[in-house]
Amino acid sequence: TTIENANFQWSAPSNIALVKYWGKKDNQIPANPSISFTLNNCKTITLLSVVNKGDVNDFSFDLLFEGKPKESFRPKIQKFLERIVVYCPYLKQYHLTIDTENTFPHSSGIASSASGMAALAMNIMSLEKEICPSISEDYFYTKASFLARLGSGSACRSVKGQVVVWGNHAEVLGSSDLFGVDFDAMHEVFQNYQDTILLVDKGEKQVSSTVGHDLMHNHPFAEKRFEQAHENLSSIKEILISGDIPEFVKVVESEALTLHAMMMTSMPYFILMKPNTLEIINKIWSFRNETAIPVCFTLDAGANVHVLYPENVKEIVLQFIKNELVGFCQNGQYICDQIGQGANQL
Ligand code: PMV
Repeated sequence: TTIENANFQWSAPSNIALVKYWGKKDNQIPANPSISFTLNNCKTITLLSVVNKGDVNDFSFDLLFEGKPKESFRPKIQKFLERIVVYCPYLKQYHLTIDTENTFPHSSGIASSASGMAALAMNIMSLEKEICPSISEDYFYTKASFLARLGSGSACRSVKGQVVVWGNHAEVLGSSDLFGVDFDAMHEVFQNYQDTILLVDKGEKQVSSTVGHDLMHNHPFAEKRFEQAHENLSSIKEILISGDIPEFVKVVESEALTLHAMMMTSMPYFILMKPNTLEIINKIWSFRNETAIPVCFTLDAGANVHVLYPENVKEIVLQFIKNELVGFCQNGQYICDQIGQGANQL
């Protein structure tokens, strides 16, 4: 079927890795498997309008951010579309208008690449479904995750499910380097698990994650790190099933610090944490020691701190955050989020 014109709209959330993806091979193949919590409130909402151009020479597109043209985002989208067009040849027939916005403040230091690429991939799959209505739901979501991966690796974990594994792992049935898979066997203590994101530094990162991944080639600790990620994924899988929060805390914090240790031991070496990142970590450790409330932190490739805790201690932890941690945030800014379900058609 040829569609003359159509509009699609999807939202897709950000995600926060528990076992980190750091290091990749060609074609966005991860050097190690990773697992993440899908977020709920930090989302990208993308409207895709397509118009049949009447030729099949190549795709063309306009890019809008909050309704206005955004030149600086174009190269990333151009590269993404070039990468996926071999899997979505029908794109060549259309002029695409991509209008995107985030629910979180722009340049807040929250990467929008995962949510943004996932939202765009969902829209492209909606177009594919319109052209080819017989595709199954499973194919739809798997291919969406596959396409999102080609935009930004971690974006493949933002498509579907509360907890998503990406990367081949011997103990996770159906896991793949090519797309994320929903890990659905989760203990009830992790239901509505909270993630309060403390915005420590909203500036542009000094070293992009693309460069960071690259520095894992010839990294002196790379092989050991990749092995460790496999082991930690085995552990966290058991932990998510059994509900053992003290063990969860250990694995998750160790993963965050190991990620940053890899950065510090790259050549050239770099540090993305800021003094306030460490202040916050120490405060969290003191609070946990004093109260036995199982709150822990994780980090992505930046200075911001994700504070993770069960829903049943929400009141007291938010009080602690307001009293003791907000002072370390840039302009006192933080975002309250929790585990979510994945992308949504609007
Ligand atoms: O998806 P990328 O290439 O932006 O890499 C993300 C890497 C980390 O956020 C640091 C870890 C992860 O698994 O999300």
